[in-house]
Amino acid sequence: MRARFFGDRRARYATLVAEREGVALGWAALNPYSARAAYDRVGDLSIYVLRSARGTGVGSRLLAALEESARRNGFHKIVLFTFPFNALAQGLYATRGFREVGVFREQGTLDDRPADVMAMEKLL
Ligand SMILES: CC(C)(COP(=O)(O)OP(=O)(O)OC[C@H]1O[C@@H](n2cnc3c(N)ncnc32)[C@H](O)[C@@H]1OP(=O)(O)O)[C@@H](O)C(=O)NCCC(=O)NCCS
Repeated sequence: MRARFFGDRRARYATLVAEREGVALGWAALNPYSARAAYDRVGDLSIYVLRSARGTGVGSRLLAALEESARRNGFHKIVLFTFPFNALAQGLYATRGFREVGVFREQGTLDDRPADVMAMEKLL
């Protein structure tokens, strides 16, 4: 498996794709957290692994590679926002040393209804 840099997307913000034998198994991306200069060293995480490849370490390796890329690109912190019931994702984040910051009430929308969202963070 290897992770490949995907496009430019504003240079500092990497998108990594995990591949095995030419098949994409998942991706992880760092997104801008805020347009304000004060938060320039904070990146926001998105990650997705193909259903059939889950539980085999792809997510952990992608996240480790994204953290390393973020360090190289001058980021100080990664934040993420997840639904509190997403146990698989929280297992991954705990494994990688993210801590729970707190829960935003009705911050998101799920099936057209307001949904609570958990914020997590990791200092790099
Ligand atoms: C969350 C996600 C990226 C995890 O990727 P993954 O490749 O399955 O994760 P890994 O195999 O690297 O496992 C990492 C950790 O997740 C947890 N985990 C993974 N599969 C699990 C399972 N079947 N049951 C319980 N915990 C599990 C474990 O804590 C594991 O750590 P460990 O191996 O040290 O025990 C993947 O489930 C996914 O794409 N989900 C849908 C999209 C999503 O929810 N994205 C996050 C939005 S916030």
